[in-house]
Amino acid sequence: MAKILILGGTQWLGGTLARQALDGGHAVTCLARGASGAFPEGARSVVADRDAADAYAGVAGERWDLVVELTRFPAHARAAVEALSPAAEHWVFVSSCSVYASHARPGAAESDLLLPALESDAPYSDEKYGEAKVGCEWLTVASRGNAVLLVRPGLIGGPGDPSGRSTYWPLRFAAGRGPVLVPSDTGDQRYVQIVDVRDLAAFILEAGLAGRSGPVNAVGAEMPLGDVLASAASAAGYDGATVPYPLAAMADDGVAPWAGPRSLPLVLPAGEEYAGFARRSDQRAVRWGLVRRPLAATFADIVGHEAALDDGAPRAGLTAAEERELLAKRG
Ligand SMILES: NC(=O)c1ccc[n+]([C@@H]2O[C@H](COP(=O)([O-])OP(=O)(O)OC[C@H]3O[C@@H](n4cnc5c(N)ncnc54)[C@H](OP(=O)(O)O)[C@@H]3O)[C@@H](O)[C@H]2O)c1
Repeated sequence: MAKILILGGTQWLGGTLARQALDGGHAVTCLARGASGAFPEGARSVVADRDAADAYAGVAGERWDLVVELTRFPAHARAAVEALSPAAEHWVFVSSCSVYASHARPGAAESDLLLPALESDAPYSDEKYGEAKVGCEWLTVASRGNAVLLVRPGLIGGPGDPSGRSTYWPLRFAAGRGPVLVPSDTGDQRYVQIVDVRDLAAFILEAGLAGRSGPVNAVGAEMPLGDVLASAASAAGYDGATVPYPLAAMADDGVAPWAGPRSLPLVLPAGEEYAGFARRSDQRAVRWGLVRRPLAATFADIVGHEAALDDGAPRAGLTAAEERELLAKRG
């Protein structure tokens, strides 16, 4: 049994990690405010605001077999390693593939150039997420040297996805209302790389406890967008009509790529700068033990767990009214 500290744990990945570690017989402590969600049942909860000077007082002076850090704020990353690193055997920083300076080259590995780091005293904004994660990586490495595993996930998917990016298509096909507007990217192929949140959590725990160190792209298997949509339809048992939507019409129709409201989730913007996005090398992760379920299984679980909760207002994508409007335009 290992003693594991999760800096976070009240959100999606952190909660999944905590529950898996508990199921594996480990002793789990989660440190967070409890503002984003509930602390996982069975874990020891330490309520703390990491903006406060004494944030780590409730867990200081204890030895940890593994610390898993989820933050995006360099100031939090720095304060945590300063307070806790000497008593931590292994340390995982959950980073992101957003740290890379370019997404133009398919197959790029962990040695790819990074964005400039956001300083720990610079203000954070979501536009600086990649730079902030680089800052967190640097500060952690500066303190622990090689004794840190930098897990860089690509898009995380699965039941409960708070961004709605991985759930939109299977739930849309499962909704069973009229023909489905589907992206048609003929001639300009786009890709998707979704890692299931449960497979990612298992990898973080296993590789972290094994003392792996250095950066690793924890990404899903690369799949063409068309295959992903077919897989979503099949998981939902959909055999109704689809209407192809030419992606060149998105800008005129005010439809956003990738995520958010009035969007086509998982559809990357056109352009050479995205040619390697969702096509990152997964070789090191697979060598280090990342086991990925088929995307069809992730989609089937999304349909099984979430279709009943679908209230017609997707967390990302098109509402029923927006889809009707676009379908009407296409005759
Ligand atoms: N979703 C994706 O596709 C994707 C892709 C690549 C990488 N990632 C990374 O994967 C991880 C996802 O983690 P997650 O799902 O657990 O969500 P998250 O939103 O990144 O979790 C942040 C955690 O930090 C805690 N926190 C925030 N501010 C705090 C403060 N001032 N004091 C104490 N605690 C604070 C939050 O808890 P409270 O608010 O309750 O305090 C929450 O538990 C993140 O590291 C993210 O950057 C995500």
